[in-house]
Amino acid sequence: MTEELSRILEEAREEIAKVSTSRELNDVRVKYLGKAGTVTSLMKRLKDLPPEERPNWGRMVNELKDEIERILEEKKAEIARLEKEELNRKLWADPTMPGTRRSLGHLHILTKVQEELEDIFISMGFSIVEGPEIEEPWYNFDALNTPEWHPARDLHDSFYINEKYLLRTHTSPVQIRTMLSRKPPLAIISPGRVYRRDYDATHLPMFTQMEGLYVDHDVTVRHLKYFLEEFARRLLGENTKVRLRPSYFPFTEPSFEVDIYFNNRWFEVLGAGMVHPNVFKNVGYDPERWRGLAFGLGIERIAMVKYGIKDIRDLIRNDVRFLENW
Ligand code: PHE
Repeated sequence: MTEELSRILEEAREEIAKVSTSRELNDVRVKYLGKAGTVTSLMKRLKDLPPEERPNWGRMVNELKDEIERILEEKKAEIARLEKEELNRKLWADPTMPGTRRSLGHLHILTKVQEELEDIFISMGFSIVEGPEIEEPWYNFDALNTPEWHPARDLHDSFYINEKYLLRTHTSPVQIRTMLSRKPPLAIISPGRVYRRDYDATHLPMFTQMEGLYVDHDVTVRHLKYFLEEFARRLLGENTKVRLRPSYFPFTEPSFEVDIYFNNRWFEVLGAGMVHPNVFKNVGYDPERWRGLAFGLGIERIAMVKYGIKDIRDLIRNDVRFLENW
């Protein structure tokens, strides 16, 4: 190699050594090996040389080119290694560090009680149906033998959306909707939200009920008592007692308030009765052929009994200190 070529090689070596990024490296490559680069212009000298010197010059320039290419490749590999190390440094994580613990949530106590109740009734042959929370007065009252003038309606006539719709005050309209769309015999439960003009330690303006309806030939109050005792014992334990007190609902006859004895106290948790013949007439069932029992239980009340909750409002306050207890 001529002195000139050796000098160029040394220059290239030094420049390449200083480079620290692939972009800079590429600039150096263009400077020496590009179309207008040093090596290319050295090659162009060939045509001005006497023919006998051409092979030698070509060989030397090619050697120079190969050597520069080799140094560039070396540097390229080094830069790639450094860039990878740098990336690893940025992404570095200590796998031995303790992790951040995430506390897992769980179902709300009301949902749990509702699911337990559903399981119990499903195991006794009931199926679940749902109805709308925005309801028409006919389903909520009239079809349930509670006409406009009926005093029982005053207690409930509350959250009207307009003249045609109100927020249902109980789950009983689902009885009507179910009987209109199905033929007897049937056994259904229907859990869902209901709305009333109440608010204190034992009443919420929005709460959850579960309706039950069983229609067949020869259904009697004994069946009612059986289903209620069975569910109470399965939910709260073998020694739970159930008491029926005479009561009044327009859509059942006879009607009962049902109390449950648990932890040495009686709790009023549901209303029940035998389906009134007028209700059967309203849905086109023949009251001479069919008998029915119905009940409506308050899921909040049941949860309060089972878990000893004093204030019903705790169930909707969303205070984790309360909710995490169950
Ligand atoms: N719907 C009644 C209430 O909300 C409860 C009930 C349901 C009573 C079914 C009798 C039969 O108070």
